[in-house]
Amino acid sequence: MDGKKKIEWAMNWMPVMASIRRDFLSDKPFSGMTISMALHLEAKTAVLAYSLKQGGAKVRISGCNPLSTDDEVAASLRDDFGVSVFAKRGLTREEYYENLAKTIEVDPDIIIDDGGDLTALALRDKSVYKNIKGGNEETTTGVVRLRNMEKAGALKFPMFDVNDALMKHLFDNRYGTGQSTIDGILTATNLVVAGKNVVVGGYGWCGRGIANKMRGLGANVTVTEIDPFKSIEAHMDGFLVRPMEEAIKYADFVITATGVKDIVTPALLKNAKDGIVLANSGHFNNEVAVEDIEKKFGRGKEVRRNVTQYNVGRKKVYVLSDGRLVNLASGQGHPVEIMDLSFSIQALTAQFIAENPKKDPKVYPVPEEIDLKVANTYLDSYGIKIDKLTREQLRYINSWQEGT
Ligand code: ADE
Repeated sequence: MDGKKKIEWAMNWMPVMASIRRDFLSDKPFSGMTISMALHLEAKTAVLAYSLKQGGAKVRISGCNPLSTDDEVAASLRDDFGVSVFAKRGLTREEYYENLAKTIEVDPDIIIDDGGDLTALALRDKSVYKNIKGGNEETTTGVVRLRNMEKAGALKFPMFDVNDALMKHLFDNRYGTGQSTIDGILTATNLVVAGKNVVVGGYGWCGRGIANKMRGLGANVTVTEIDPFKSIEAHMDGFLVRPMEEAIKYADFVITATGVKDIVTPALLKNAKDGIVLANSGHFNNEVAVEDIEKKFGRGKEVRRNVTQYNVGRKKVYVLSDGRLVNLASGQGHPVEIMDLSFSIQALTAQFIAENPKKDPKVYPVPEEIDLKVANTYLDSYGIKIDKLTREQLRYINSWQEGT
C-alpha cells in the first residue's frame, strides 16, 4: 500500500516524465521490445519503469546495489504496475547477481544500467547480448567502466553516456547528491552538522554538491583531492584543501565521493578523532575500506539502524550503511524533481536507441536535442520564462568584424 503511494507521490512531482509518458502512450516507441534495467529500485525509478511500459515495452528490473531497493515500492511496481521485478533489499552478492541474470535472460533489446554490473554481466554471454540494440548508463562510475570496456575491445553493443548529459550531471550529481547525502546521514545519525568539521573526499560534481550543502548547514568543510585543477576550484570556492592524512585528525564526519577505493583505510583511522562518522556516497562500498577495517579492528556492532560502531583502540568509529551509498541505503535517494530530469534523459535516450539502432559498439554521448528537450520541458512545466536573442544579436554573435 505504501509502495503505491510512494510511486504516485513521485509521479505527481515529475512533470517532464509525465509529458514524455503522454507521448509514449500514443506513439508506443518500444512496441514489441524488451527493456532490461538495473537501477536503484525506489519510487522515482518505478515511475521510469512504468513510463517505458506505457511506451509499449516489456520491462524487467533488478536493483543495482544490494542495499538500495525499497521493498514496498518493488512490490507495488510488480503488483500494481505490471512490471517484472527481481529485487529485494539486503541481498547477498550471489542473490544480487542471480537477480541481474534473471533481468537479462530474455534477449533484451535495450538495457538501462547504473554502475555497470548489468552491462558487464550481459557481455559475458553472446546469447544474452546478441539482440541488444543499445543501452544507457546512469552514473559516473558506470561510464568509467564502459570506457575501460571500450578500450579493451570488450564492449559488444553501443552504450549511451547518460551521466554526462547536461540535464543529468549538472543537477543530479551536484544538487541531488548534495541533498540526498545529507538526508541519508541525518536519518542514520540524527546528529547536528552546524559547527562540525566535515571532510569531503573528492571534488567532482558530487563532492561539490556535498561540500556546498554541508557548508549551508553550518559545517566547517575541508576537501581532499588528487586533481590539481579541482583542488584549486575547491580552494577558491572557499574550502580548506588538505590531504586525507591530515584532515582525518580533526574530522567529525568524512564523506567519500571519489569513485576510487581505499579513501579511508584502517591505517588512517589510527589518527582519527573519537566518534568520527564515516559515510560513502560513491557507487561502490570500497571507498571506506570496510572489509579491511573489519579485518583489522574486528566485527562492528550495529548501535542504531544503519550505524555500525568499530572500536579502534579506545576510540569509537561509526560507519554508516556498511559503507554503501548513504543517500540510498540510509536516505531516500535524490529528490523527486531531480530524478525527473535524469530519468527523462534515460527515457528519451532509450527511445532514441529504439528508433536509431547504431552498429558500432562504442560509448556515445546523449544527443544534444534530448538535453534541450528536457531543459525546455522543465522550464515550461515550472512556468520559467527566459529571454531570446534578437535577430541583430544573433547576427552579432555569429560575426567577427565588430570589435571595440
Ligand atoms: N534514485 C534512483 N536512482 C538514483 C541514483 N542513481 N542516485 C540517487 N537516487 C536515485
